[in-house]
Amino acid sequence: IVIIIVAVVLGVTLSKTSSQFQSVFMSRCEKFKDSDCQKIWEAFQQAYVNKDPCKVPMEAYDPLIAAAPFTPTCNRMMFWSKTKDVVHDFTDKRDCFVTLEDTLLGSVLDGLTWCGKEGSNETFTTGCPGWDDCDNPVRSFWNRVSAAYADVACGDVTAMLNGSITAPFNNMSIFASIEVKRFSAPRVRSLNVVLVTQEENATNCTNASLKDLQKELDQGITYSCTEVPETKIQECASDPQTPCGDCW
Ligand code: APR
Repeated sequence: IVIIIVAVVLGVTLSKTSSQFQSVFMSRCEKFKDSDCQKIWEAFQQAYVNKDPCKVPMEAYDPLIAAAPFTPTCNRMMFWSKTKDVVHDFTDKRDCFVTLEDTLLGSVLDGLTWCGKEGSNETFTTGCPGWDDCDNPVRSFWNRVSAAYADVACGDVTAMLNGSITAPFNNMSIFASIEVKRFSAPRVRSLNVVLVTQEENATNCTNASLKDLQKELDQGITYSCTEVPETKIQECASDPQTPCGDCW
């Protein structure tokens, strides 16, 4: 009897985790009008449910991308690396730029952890592999959606990079290893780096890693770099009167 009770309680707790995760997913998704969130949920789940959580490649999310394709917002697409807080503070307050995390798929899964397990149809939110452990569902998701977002990049593209670290363009980052490689001319006209600086700057636009970035860029994409104090970005975020083009 004790074993049965334990098993039932455990089962109820697990499916509660599953349905809690699903309700966060659905309520975030439904903020985007005219989207078939049930269909998107099914496409999302098939990537990792009932699978070894260490054997989920990024291609597992191909059906999800097909179910919720990215629509390009030419000249307003914002990429970033190691500047998560400042970039999202800015895009949350102003309508100037769109990051991946402002799109349906990016905003629905932002900050969440999930994985499946062989022999189960549940979604688990604890006990999942870590980011660097293996081909896990969370990292593969971010790799796949970042690739899809970069694939539709067009016009003048902006990237907010961190000027307080020695290598603002880091080969290991998603921005360097996935996104930049997918920008293609003439669809993408320019890449404009906003190097976010603080009082204690580790670097500036002459940084060696930014030379690597220019080498990586498809011929025909114009490159520029501007050093912008974080305080200036915050001021512009809080002042709706300043036109987007005058923020830096
Ligand atoms: N553990 C957990 N999450 C991580 C880890 C890690 N070790 N590394 C990265 N992430 C996730 C986090 O959500 C983090 O905020 O990826 C996010 C971005 O990581 P960064 O290293 O700051 O930047 P980068 O790898 O370049 O990715 C940012 O990818 O998300 C897209 O379009 C977006 O341009 C952006 C780029």
